[in-house]
Amino acid sequence: MYNLLKGKKGIIFGALNEDSIAWKVAERAHEEGATFVLTNAPIAMRMGEINKLAANTGSEIIPADATVMEDLENLVEKSMEILGGKIDFVLHSIGMSINVRKGRHYTESNYDFTHKGFDVSALSFHRVMNVLYKKNAMSEWGSIVALTYMAAQRVFPDYNDMADNKAYLESIARSFGYFFGRDHKVRVNTISQSPTPTTAGSGVKGFGGFLSYAEKMSPLGNATALECADYTLTLFSDLTRKVTLQNLYHDGGFSNMGISDVIMDSFMEGKE
Ligand code: NAI
Repeated sequence: MYNLLKGKKGIIFGALNEDSIAWKVAERAHEEGATFVLTNAPIAMRMGEINKLAANTGSEIIPADATVMEDLENLVEKSMEILGGKIDFVLHSIGMSINVRKGRHYTESNYDFTHKGFDVSALSFHRVMNVLYKKNAMSEWGSIVALTYMAAQRVFPDYNDMADNKAYLESIARSFGYFFGRDHKVRVNTISQSPTPTTAGSGVKGFGGFLSYAEKMSPLGNATALECADYTLTLFSDLTRKVTLQNLYHDGGFSNMGISDVIMDSFMEGKE
């Protein structure tokens, strides 16, 4: 432990269960001395697992649907009351595609599903920042991070409309990040994480193959949820104050690879 976040106050979206990346971020942030509010969609709370995380980290839970402005306004106001001041860090760890869930092929999208998935996965990041910005809720040199995936830049056919949602999410980070930096000295970044076995991740068709392909392609192997949490904490810490408007790859090197020996060997098997 480094006491990296000693005295810092935060809001963490998206801890659903122990596998969630946000869950690991909460545990690690607690270990590093932060206090924070946990939030998730009211429907996700029904499973009740988040209560365990709240107890272990001494946190309060405020339900909020990230597509509903009133919920977000209530969340930000209550968080400042509970934490006793402005917010130093926010994690947006939210993603959901109904087209993916229902097995709709990308070329056969149901646009009502597309709209809903876009609202939850991408526009919610704008909404969250809008509320934080309007309420002047972020401390100077605060940090806002959202999680994304490389399908925003490259084709991964089964990632479906989440690819488009992530492209939009990353763009929001830059566009809103400009105003947040200029007006409040707050930084905004996205972390582009390796495929990770979580509820959202495992919903992608052929996820097992996806995971092992990335593992074999990356010189350092896939980054785990816990490693993603560690990286996220560096962005919440005071050691990265001038990093903003970036999409930062946290993927064991995958994004800069063309081919690895292991993949080439398995491709050539039986061909020579
Ligand atoms: P997860 O399923 O544990 O987390 C997704 C969260 O989004 C859940 O807690 C869910 O309740 C929440 N959510 C859904 N609708 C919501 C709404 N209307 N309002 C508020 N919250 C809502 O899965 P994971 O993997 O931890 O996902 C976190 C983030 O990481 C997502 O943005 C995901 O796209 C991203 N990511 C995941 C990767 C993976 O392979 N698992 C790879 C790269 C990025």
